[in-house]
Amino acid sequence: MSETLYIQHFKDSSRGLDYYLKQMEGYTALKKAFKMTPDDIINEMKKSNVRGRGGAGFPTGMKWGFIPKQASKPKYLVCNADESEPGTFKDRDLMRYTPHLLIEGMVIGGFAIGAHVGYIYIRGEYTREAKLLDEAIDEAYAKGYLGKNIQGSGFDFDLTVHRGAGAYICGEETGLLNSLEGKRGEPRVKPPFPAQAGAFGGPTIVNNVETLTNVPFIINKGGDWFAKLGKLEKSGGTRLVSISGHVKKPGVYEINAGSMTIRQLIYDVAGGILDDRPLKAVIPGGSSAPVLTADEIDVIYDIEPLMKVGSMMGSAALMVVNDSYPIVRLIKRITKFYAHESCGQCTPCREGCRWMEDILHRIEHGHGKEQDLALLLDITDNIAGKTLCALGDAAAGPVASFVRKFRPDFEALIRGGRHAQVHH
Ligand SMILES: Cc1cc2nc3c(=O)[nH]c(=O)nc-3n(C[C@H](O)[C@H](O)[C@H](O)COP(=O)(O)O)c2cc1C
Repeated sequence: MSETLYIQHFKDSSRGLDYYLKQMEGYTALKKAFKMTPDDIINEMKKSNVRGRGGAGFPTGMKWGFIPKQASKPKYLVCNADESEPGTFKDRDLMRYTPHLLIEGMVIGGFAIGAHVGYIYIRGEYTREAKLLDEAIDEAYAKGYLGKNIQGSGFDFDLTVHRGAGAYICGEETGLLNSLEGKRGEPRVKPPFPAQAGAFGGPTIVNNVETLTNVPFIINKGGDWFAKLGKLEKSGGTRLVSISGHVKKPGVYEINAGSMTIRQLIYDVAGGILDDRPLKAVIPGGSSAPVLTADEIDVIYDIEPLMKVGSMMGSAALMVVNDSYPIVRLIKRITKFYAHESCGQCTPCREGCRWMEDILHRIEHGHGKEQDLALLLDITDNIAGKTLCALGDAAAGPVASFVRKFRPDFEALIRGGRHAQVHH
């Protein structure tokens, strides 16, 4: 059985301040944090082995430690609530059901890094969640958990919800910061990294929603306790996993980090494959993650084990595909998404994504050429690692993995036309 921090609170009745105070030890971590020094808080974060839940898995305590103590410009804490990676929908539940947990995590984070202003950058489509967050923020202001001299601590922190307008690229942290500043949501050249020069040129930490909702637990129960929730050495805590696609029980599930294989997640947690058909493919970390075949699902679902098999955990979104869906159409659809969402700044991404989409489209429709698979792999090589942000890698990695692992599906369409069947 997994220990759970969140899932039991994912119900409509839990979102108000009353519930938070009574059932979730609400705002007690904040009181504790005010008695600690910012360095103590950052040390506790380091001990907890919490790693960013937004996709890259960067150690959060270390990231907070990068913020300079002295700065000529104001510092900022920004919550990345853009949640635009296809397959990912866990942050939505966190904001919908436990908004005060996020607010408390952000006030503690602000105190630790010396920021007095925070923003929650939320994807435009989450209208309901934006409204619920605004209501929770109003409640927190009314009870003195936000604003001036919070709970008599002498610390001031203001928090604002900023709504995006439906662009995947605004989930990339520097694209997000540009959008927050009212500019086009185009990723910035790095360095400087946000911790040196982020929002409005000030030192800035950008963290995912789930990363920040972990903070009150870490402060209340200790970094060591949190670290032990994870079953592998380097990843602490629990993980919210968004499971979708061809499973009997899709949804958001919570597991101890590193405690299960993909097979267990599919069959023991999500009820097995829809219609009891054969499993064909698994995308383990959101649509940016290279695909795995049915033979590769005995891998532990955590950051390092997935890297070892050539994929990634990303935002912990497991997409399951049975044999009823054409595999070429699937990667064409994913690539169409990246081609549409490329901001266009970097030529390899702008041109390459559209080119890959065109090639995949013609293969899918029975007009593929024998040399198309080599061409696709060559294009992926010319995108990956050659762009300002990771959108290029997010588009290239999946295409390369689908071509390598499901070559017979592509070849059947190229040789036999659009109605070709694949024989395994
Ligand atoms: C194209 C692209 C889209 C991204 N979208 C998101 C997103 O929707 N939500 C998110 O939290 N991180 C997203 N990220 C990752 C962020 O850039 C950044 O790593 C993250 O906000 C850091 O927070 P964390 O350390 O708490 O994970 C995206 C990255 C890229 C390259």
